[in-house]
Amino acid sequence: MMEETHHEDEERLVNPDPQPEEQYDLSLRPQRLGEYIGQPEIKENLKVFIEAAKKRGHPLDHVLLSGPPGLGKTTLANIFAKEMETQIRSTSGPVIERQGDLAAILTNLEPGTILFIDEIHRMNRVIEEVLYGAMEDFTLDIIIGQGPAARTVKLDLPRFTLVGATTRTGLLSSPLRDRFGIQTRLNYYTPEELKIIILRAAAILRVEIVEEAAMELAQRSRGTPRIANRMLRRCRDFADLETGGVITFPLMRRSLEKMGIDLEGLDQMDRHILQTIIEKFSGGPVGLGTLAAAVSEEKDTLEDVYEPFLLLNGFIQRTPRGRTATPRAFEHLNLPTLQADSQISLF
Ligand code: ADE
Repeated sequence: MMEETHHEDEERLVNPDPQPEEQYDLSLRPQRLGEYIGQPEIKENLKVFIEAAKKRGHPLDHVLLSGPPGLGKTTLANIFAKEMETQIRSTSGPVIERQGDLAAILTNLEPGTILFIDEIHRMNRVIEEVLYGAMEDFTLDIIIGQGPAARTVKLDLPRFTLVGATTRTGLLSSPLRDRFGIQTRLNYYTPEELKIIILRAAAILRVEIVEEAAMELAQRSRGTPRIANRMLRRCRDFADLETGGVITFPLMRRSLEKMGIDLEGLDQMDRHILQTIIEKFSGGPVGLGTLAAAVSEEKDTLEDVYEPFLLLNGFIQRTPRGRTATPRAFEHLNLPTLQADSQISLF
């Protein structure tokens, strides 16, 4: 099993071609910083760092990208490679199983390469230690032999740029976090930015979409380009069968309804979470683990994917004792604000 995973990782690393299922997605991704929409402050800074590094003839400093899934961390890593005119090697934290795996990757890098490690927070802490020296002074300590005969050999590595992606910076150990010279947090996109992204994607996919439909989708895509693009493709399916391929405003509304996306952009799972907090836990507070079990979802997924959006939009609150549903959540689900009121009325 371990060998198999290792083998898969190796294949992924050395295979520069996008996987069949990625091909579609890749075609929608911007290739250059100039094409990248949104995240204006981040873009501005990165442009300076990239230009300065190029002018000096140095690789870009190590970059840590954090933020919820689907906001463009992988896209940015690929853009760095294009802008720096270098190659990129991609892997992810959980698939690196041994220190030796990481050492093999590092020693095989060409100078200047971007090494992208997705989900870097899920890398084993012992393995992570290999990165410290590699990031700091491009050296690798290798222990040869065992017992009293064991000795350490210091290997020089090519200078490279590590780009790490994580959902939350707080999940990284501080020695690792501190070694990233550039630390950037991606934010949810505004509806106006998403609208531009959707219109761009529609043009690439050669699908006709009216502007109001694009705006409607933008407002209901949870601030996330990946979700907007995914829903755009589904709307195109509906449009192909219903309106001769044109995504009109009514078609957009119907499609979103069929996909279970409500007017606030919440999907079935979002509503299930809110409903569970309200109906099973009297509106909260309920601990993350308990809530995750109640909705049959991974704790991490709940915390990384669902919670940030529900928090940002004021549907839930985080308290020291757990998550609570806000009055807005009750209102949105059309549920009476319960317990507190009814208990008071008992007195
Ligand atoms: N497609 C997905 N994310 C994008 C972005 N930030 N800019 C342009 N196109 C995108």
